[in-house]
Amino acid sequence: STMAVEKQVARVLTISCLISALLLQNTFAEELQWDENGYVLYCPCMGRFGNQADHFLGSLAFAKMLNRTLAVPPWIVYRHHTPPYTNIHVPYKEFFQLEALSTYHRVVSLEDFVEKLAPKHWPPGQRKAYCFEMAAQRSADKKSCPMKDGNPFGPFWEYVGVEFDKSVLFGGISFSAYHQPQWMKKFPPSEHPVLALPGAPAQFPVIEEHVGLQRYVVWSDNMMKEGEEHIATLLNRPYVGIHLRIGIDWQNACKMLKSGDTGPHFMASPQCVGYNRQTALPLTMTMCLPDLAEIRRAVKLWVKKTSARSVYIATDSETYSRDIEKLFKGKVKVVSLQPDSAQLDLYILGQADHFIGNCVSSFSAFVKRERDVRGLPSSFFGMDNPGKLNQKEEL
Ligand SMILES: *[C@@H]1O[C@H](CO)[C@@H](O)[C@H](O)[C@H]1NC(C)=O
Repeated sequence: STMAVEKQVARVLTISCLISALLLQNTFAEELQWDENGYVLYCPCMGRFGNQADHFLGSLAFAKMLNRTLAVPPWIVYRHHTPPYTNIHVPYKEFFQLEALSTYHRVVSLEDFVEKLAPKHWPPGQRKAYCFEMAAQRSADKKSCPMKDGNPFGPFWEYVGVEFDKSVLFGGISFSAYHQPQWMKKFPPSEHPVLALPGAPAQFPVIEEHVGLQRYVVWSDNMMKEGEEHIATLLNRPYVGIHLRIGIDWQNACKMLKSGDTGPHFMASPQCVGYNRQTALPLTMTMCLPDLAEIRRAVKLWVKKTSARSVYIATDSETYSRDIEKLFKGKVKVVSLQPDSAQLDLYILGQADHFIGNCVSSFSAFVKRERDVRGLPSSFFGMDNPGKLNQKEEL
């Protein structure tokens, strides 16, 4: 009868479900074996996405240097202008492929580490925090790492679901390769299996030798799909992508350059003035904060050079899209999405036929690195050939 057949089908389905569940469990169990060489955990607690990405590359290198698995943290997204104003923690794999990192070094998501490995291997009661003596000075007893003090620190470890029980302080040691032997000696994984740090074990901006690690940061399938859909519907190739970092906070930051409170190395600027302090090119105000005249000059130049049919504008405030449209008398399509997700802007800029970025911005730096890895051309406002002064500036 039909009933019997249905029952039979149902039974077969149940069994195949059970089998796949078992298989899945097995794969996960295999993937998540405890690493006897230990782990590095940290909070990407400095700055927004661009800074977090710079810190991520350095942290990845640090974990590899100590041969510890990196527990890859989520991205912290700040919502200063949208209720309820709390930070959002976006798992790494929502934007990028976790697996792509594995070709460089062992990684596990911080969420998986805490959920699947920590209960057994790093149980509550034994969770030590590691920090510089200097950092502990800020605590009440001067001996505790400020793991959860303030925002974004507190909300981050709350999201992860971790309390710290003890602090281990260190000094006279840095995160650079020079101190690798000291790290190994001071914190052997047998006694210190989990190095949990209040901030990234890395420098900002990312040091020159780690810039190429960007190649392991590969967009997730979802991001690619969303980005490609927007490009296909909004833009005609070739297109020039530009990043305008011109908002009020940036105007204030660039004042430091004007007043001489900073030299050519200012935030992400080594990417265009050079990493060597002795030989760094001057950083001009136009490079830090391009005015409308410079924006028009650079866009016109690159639209012409690339025979672009559209311009994509990512901005932190104004788009200047009217002014840019006027430059080309309506012959070039000018688009600015101003999406909620900064990553969509990053993706579209990364795919452009030419990119004009802001040399001082770590957001631009992310795009530049990604394009360099893929051999795509980029320039900066105030610097048409990265690493070379514009003619006018040379005088
Ligand atoms: C690094 O760690 C892995 C995994 O724990 C281990 O198999 C490998 O032998 C280690 N390499 C060195 C050089 O210690």
